Amino acid sequence: MRLSDRPLVSEEQITRRVDELAAAISRDFEGRELLVMPVLKGGVFFAADLMRRLTVPVFVDFIRARSYHGTRSGGTVEFLVSPSEPVVGRHVLVVEDILDTGRTTAAVLDRIQAEGPASLALCVFLDKPSRRLVDIKADYVGLEVPDVYVVGYGLDYNEQYRHLPAIYVLEDP
Ligand code: IMP
Ligand code: MG
Repeated sequence: MRLSDRPLVSEEQITRRVDELAAAISRDFEGRELLVMPVLKGGVFFAADLMRRLTVPVFVDFIRARSYHGTRSGGTVEFLVSPSEPVVGRHVLVVEDILDTGRTTAAVLDRIQAEGPASLALCVFLDKPSRRLVDIKADYVGLEVPDVYVVGYGLDYNEQYRHLPAIYVLEDP
């Protein structure tokens, strides 16, 4: 098992997309305050870059979730770190590293929606639409990727590689 020699997404490409996403989000939420909720651990790297470029007032709170895939399509989600900021009446932006099957993220969104936010949006850096098992779409997507296993920029393989500044394909995982 090894990393691709060249990144699938370079640091320069990451920077460009984060700039564009931050501009779009700042425009869409102009005049409002945003409660940004990065999903630990992977979403933190992208969220830190994104938040520093937002021009609207930002509050931040972290979520850590583990999902169980039971009878419901979205499964149930146990929050290991529950939001400490009140969500009711706030404009919430959940930030994830990657949208894959969608199960965990769908369960996280259900759980936050139940708390009565004024609005709820999802921003993911990578999207693997070919893997989707749950009907969920992100409002903001950095890049679509094919069905390959990627690491870096928050994404791990057995907790390794999250810190890499670019995104690589893990070959023969
Ligand atoms: P989902 O519930 O299947 O959408 O799970 C999303 C989670 O799976 C992400 O937050 C990642 O932690 C993990 N994941 C999915 N695809 C990859 C990948 O290619 N590399 C690293 N982690 C991944
Ligand atoms: Mg992970």
